[in-house]
Amino acid sequence: MIGVFDSGFGGLTILKSIRERLPEYDYLYLGDNARTPYGTRSFEVVYQYTLECVRYLFSRGCHLIILACNTASAKALRNIQQNDLPHLYPDRRVLGIIRPTVEAIEHYTTTRHIGLLATPGTVNSMSYPIEISKHCQHITLTQQACPMWVPLVENNEHHNAGANYFVEQYINQLLSTDPLIDTILLACTHYPLLAGKINEAINEYMNKHSITDHNINLLSQGSIVAASLEDYLRRHPEIERYCEKNGGVEFLTTESAERFSESAAIFMGEQIEAQHVEL
Ligand code: DGL
Repeated sequence: MIGVFDSGFGGLTILKSIRERLPEYDYLYLGDNARTPYGTRSFEVVYQYTLECVRYLFSRGCHLIILACNTASAKALRNIQQNDLPHLYPDRRVLGIIRPTVEAIEHYTTTRHIGLLATPGTVNSMSYPIEISKHCQHITLTQQACPMWVPLVENNEHHNAGANYFVEQYINQLLSTDPLIDTILLACTHYPLLAGKINEAINEYMNKHSITDHNINLLSQGSIVAASLEDYLRRHPEIERYCEKNGGVEFLTTESAERFSESAAIFMGEQIEAQHVEL
């Protein structure tokens, strides 16, 4: 199985796109809902938690794991790839989602001014500005941390009117910092679940400030990561041959299986029976 990991429900937005593009493979999703959110935790803690989850997915037979979490990709991926995998599992791979996103992002902007919404952990890691400066020329990136959004999603409060306040607050802060932004990247896999409210807040801001000279695209990572995984599997037959192809998917959570199944079924639009696991 291809392992897909997130601190909670957010990675489901990535898994959904991956399964649409690559339905033939088997997937094992692990949400560390018991310890979410990761986005406000220290580098050491995110690394420790992510490594535990990666080791668990390896113990269940995964040869390839996607960290469908920007915070874990920013704070744990490099350590795991460089220090842990070579001696623990030299023939297995862990991939993140920041690099593929950065490689694709240039194609979406005309003004070359991009806004980025992410957890405080991802923003403070500076992973996106560093990767963008390596791969893209002349991009102006404005980062905005949104510490309240993951708790809203994890608590299933993201559809409620109370969420509007926090959505508007961060959108207004971002857009008032750089009026030339034409692309907003949702650099946290939980955020596509708030996309409706985010779009409303963007439209409201643009109307209020009479901005008519450009549109703002909201960009989620799902399809970008799915395309990049397809490309990876094509280029790495030595890993691809371990990935079974029965079109199956299993869901694991470190929190209550019932609660996960209920919420995940809404996000994925299908019946889900998750299992609780102890790491
Ligand atoms: N979904 C994770 C991400 O993409 C963050 C969630 C969290 O803060 O736990 O960054």
